[in-house]
Amino acid sequence: MAVVFVLNGPNLNLLGRRQPEIYGHETLADVEAACIARGGALGLTVSFHQSNHEGEIVETIHRARDEAAAIVINPAAYTHTSVAIMDALLAFDGPVIEVHLSNVHRREEFRSHSWVSKAATGVICGLGSHGYLLALDAVARLVDAEAG
Ligand code: DQA
Repeated sequence: MAVVFVLNGPNLNLLGRRQPEIYGHETLADVEAACIARGGALGLTVSFHQSNHEGEIVETIHRARDEAAAIVINPAAYTHTSVAIMDALLAFDGPVIEVHLSNVHRREEFRSHSWVSKAATGVICGLGSHGYLLALDAVARLVDAEAG
């Protein structure tokens, strides 16, 4: 089974308790369980990660070069600041799907710019945690297409 790394950036460990009017009431553990279930149904093994540290996210992306066929990433605030995460993703050969729970384009102006989008195959935002599942659907198709 193809392995997909699902990566989550800073403050997403507080999901469900952090600004629920924006990010919803589900916890990150709920999102992880839903991703593992959807991945299983699609024939994908989901390896789920969260970190509040930019360098740790960069190193996990480096690991993905050897261990994963695709990456789904919600870089959270690093979306808008991290050239290092963009560069790490550019050094990854498989599909990269960027996910945001909220519609970043309806919010403050600074959230409309994403460094990570420059390294993403596709971007999903504004659909809450369902966006992660749609990203896995996309990965399944893209990985299949690559396998020919
Ligand atoms: C987010 C949007 C970012 O702007 C924000 O910094 C986050 C979460 C989202 O999932 O909507 O932490 O990535």
